[in-house]
Amino acid sequence: RFAYVNGRYVRHKEAAVHIEDRGYQFADGIYEVCEVRHGALVDTTRHLDRLDRSLSELQIASPMPRASLVAVMREVVRRNRVRDGMIYIQVSRGVAPRDHLFPPQGTPPALVITARSSSPAKAAKTAEAGVNVITLPDNRWERVDIKSVSLLPNVLAKEAARKAGAKEAWFVDSDGYVTEGSSTNAWIVTAEGALVTRPAEHGILRGITRTAVLDLARREGITVEERPFTVEEAYRAREAFITAATTLVMPVVRIDDHAIGNGKPGSIATELRQRFHEVVE
Ligand code: PDD
Repeated sequence: RFAYVNGRYVRHKEAAVHIEDRGYQFADGIYEVCEVRHGALVDTTRHLDRLDRSLSELQIASPMPRASLVAVMREVVRRNRVRDGMIYIQVSRGVAPRDHLFPPQGTPPALVITARSSSPAKAAKTAEAGVNVITLPDNRWERVDIKSVSLLPNVLAKEAARKAGAKEAWFVDSDGYVTEGSSTNAWIVTAEGALVTRPAEHGILRGITRTAVLDLARREGITVEERPFTVEEAYRAREAFITAATTLVMPVVRIDDHAIGNGKPGSIATELRQRFHEVVE
């Protein structure tokens, strides 16, 4: 395996960043995860638009022009012989002696890109069974719209989910509304068959998979309600599912101690999963 680290392709085993990298010291960096399918990058433009937005919100310089970045991403996929899997891009504010203040103007941002294969067959099996979700208070900062590598609450939530026999944890705000999962967006389907997901203005990351699923649902004539929903409403939902570039559309069959619907993956979630790649390129 190979990784791209600050201008060089290096063996994954030996790939390393400097101890004074601000990503390492302050979590002062951002990232993206894109799906790789049939050897190609999926929804690249939207992912790189979001990467640019994360960088500008944090006033981190762009590491390289977009066309060059896409070329490097493709090369990382090629060198790792990834057919199906994911690519990870991380940009930190660069290397400088530890100081909370931004480093001097002209300090180059640090760029790392890795790629990894995954098994579509294994994912399909997981989707056939559906996954369990737990709920936890959302204890994150207010700028979760930025795809920052500062993910401690998410890491703790995911581990709590695992300990509870669940695949994901849904964060819940102080008013009892679900925000999103620790690494996914959260969705329910009402008894009337409407798709509900929280608006992306506040409290969640605007998932690229989320955007694609909204496009797909509208195209299929499914009623879409972008509004917050409570945990109580989710317990009573006909269906639930999560979305991310890593899981795509993944049916949820249990939330805390409540079986969702008949306890099996719902038909809308299953259809959206099957048709997902019709609306992305
Ligand atoms: N996570 N919400 C959070 C908090 C996320 O971390 C992610 C993605 C999403 C879904 O976004 P998208 O559809 O663009 O993947 C929502 C990535 C996959 C990760 O951290 O591994």
